[in-house]
Amino acid sequence: MAASSSTQYDVIIIGAGAAGLMCAATAGYRGRKVLVIDQANKPGKKILMSGGGRCNFTNLNSTPSNFLSDNPHFCISALKRYTPQNFLDLVERHGIEHEEKAAGQLFCKDSAKEILAMLLTECEWAGAEIRMKTSVKSITRSAGDFRVNTSSGTLTCESLVIACGGLSIPTMGATGFGYEVARQFGLTVLPTRAGLVPFTLHPELKQQLAPLSGVSCPVEASCNNHYFREPMLVTHRGLSGPSMLQISSFWQPGNPLTINLLPERNIREDLESLRKQKPQSTIAQYLIQHLPKRFAQTFSELHRWEGPLQNYKNSDLERVSETLGQWTVKPAGTEGYRTAEVTLGGVDTRQLSSKTMAALEHPNLYFIGEVVDVTGHLGGHNFQWAWASGVAAGLAV
Ligand code: FDA
Repeated sequence: MAASSSTQYDVIIIGAGAAGLMCAATAGYRGRKVLVIDQANKPGKKILMSGGGRCNFTNLNSTPSNFLSDNPHFCISALKRYTPQNFLDLVERHGIEHEEKAAGQLFCKDSAKEILAMLLTECEWAGAEIRMKTSVKSITRSAGDFRVNTSSGTLTCESLVIACGGLSIPTMGATGFGYEVARQFGLTVLPTRAGLVPFTLHPELKQQLAPLSGVSCPVEASCNNHYFREPMLVTHRGLSGPSMLQISSFWQPGNPLTINLLPERNIREDLESLRKQKPQSTIAQYLIQHLPKRFAQTFSELHRWEGPLQNYKNSDLERVSETLGQWTVKPAGTEGYRTAEVTLGGVDTRQLSSKTMAALEHPNLYFIGEVVDVTGHLGGHNFQWAWASGVAAGLAV
């Protein structure tokens, strides 16, 4: 990370995160003189905190349908040209041990530090320079070149790449700078909001669910015709876990969530046959067979499902199965950018080339990674977009 005395570069990349580092290495290997600048003290902070410290670095089953965007076809080209297997090959060339957790989700066996070290090594081998603690004061354009006025002097470049991420986790250095640059050059920035984020609850439900804090169970969560069958976790603040994070990206304030607590069961049939075979058993006893004990008991108490099943009429069983299969929760909100894994919305892709990530009106200005209006589902898709868009720009700058 040595500082260069020259101030003229072929390529300057703002943001030393996943997308910026991938772009820098790709462009460097093509013989471009590359500088990455970042205002943070260390590169790749989000990589380090990702996947619980073990970085879910890609998803082998990633397809364009795993991404949300106002312009859904935009991501297809870059994702096709740099695939999860391409990134896995890179990881394996660096001898990083990995494991598949849920279907297709690849994590480091040891630490996310290895992915960051790999990217920094690639940048070094490719001759790309990285300068941290450097903030950008202004960007201007003269005679075709960009002049980037930074806290350590004015730099010029032929191609400028904006890779400064979204708004999630401001304490990790997230800023809206990428959106400002987009607006400065006349690009539209679509409204942003927090995605892959836990839900908060209204005080009454929060209090009722308080005894369940820390309990996780597999559910099917749905909202606005999107469905995710993954675990839900009750926390002291609200509802989290993969199913809740996933569905949060499709949720709008005021929307109810529908949660099927027993997605693998035909609840009505189960209850009817249990009533016939073991009329003395209770609903809590039924639930304990399929849900964590604490959840089964608290949920039954909450709904006052008391007494033996023989006392339940068909209409009662119908109500119980509806509550279990279509538990309706109206979140108070989400935890917002403070804990969100991603930012939805961003630079409108209709104004970018899907092949190179360059602005159509400013061919040497590129936008990659999370700053762009392409957001993945949970499970390694967001990094795959960072790698793929980074490579697409890196091959063009
Ligand atoms: P990223 O945010 O990585 O990098 C942006 C860089 O720009 C930062 O280094 C920042 O300091 C810099 N910057 C910002 N403003 C600047 C300015 N004004 N001037 C200079 N530099 C500036 N995804 C996934 O696929 N698998 C996973 O396991 C996880 N896990 C995960 C956990 C947590 C807690 C979070 C918050 C996020 C994830 N993600 C994830 C999402 C993933 O981290 C995210 O999609 C990528 O990091 C986005 O990469 P970018 O390079 O676009 O931005």
